[in-house]
Amino acid sequence: MSEEGFTIWFTGWSGAGKTTIAIALEEELKKRGIRYVQRLDGDIVREGLCSDLGFSKNDRNENIKRASFVAELLSKNGVATLVSFISPYRNLRDYARENCHNFIEVYVKCDKETLIERDVKGLYRQAIEGKIPEFTGISDPYEEPLNPEIILNTADETLFESVKTVIEYLDKNGYI
Ligand code: ADX
Repeated sequence: MSEEGFTIWFTGWSGAGKTTIAIALEEELKKRGIRYVQRLDGDIVREGLCSDLGFSKNDRNENIKRASFVAELLSKNGVATLVSFISPYRNLRDYARENCHNFIEVYVKCDKETLIERDVKGLYRQAIEGKIPEFTGISDPYEEPLNPEIILNTADETLFESVKTVIEYLDKNGYI
């Protein structure tokens, strides 16, 4: 039996929980019998396919174009594609929306104070000290989604709740 592909596009600040939620969602989809699930993660894609890119506006945009190209190939061929990139620019997320099959934008939202306090990778401290230039939220812009299909508030909800919200959306809209 073939499966309907879709692209779940997680956007949000570094450390907000995009990757963590995508990993848990991947597990949950597989448990539910979805065979073809693929994650695309900014940190990993930047080690290979996008290793020539930095964090200028042009480079971030090129990063998103390449990610959406891969997501399109996967999702149109029946793969549940879970994309986690900061993707700070609205027009590039709209580009991804236009190009990817069954696009679902998920804004992984978290307030700045919590992110700085968590600082999982220690990057916020360095960015505040000026050691990392063009850092999203500190010295570089993030354009909030205006009409995302889903908003997850990771400062207030558990991982379980976030995954449940996405699963319910997929269920309600006939994707799973
Ligand atoms: S995007 O803006 O082009 O979508 P992407 O999601 O690929 O970004 O990569 C973000 C990750 O790169 C962050 O989670 C962080 O680990 C790392 N990173 C390194 N430098 C920066 C920076 N200047 N701004 C944001 N993230 C950075």
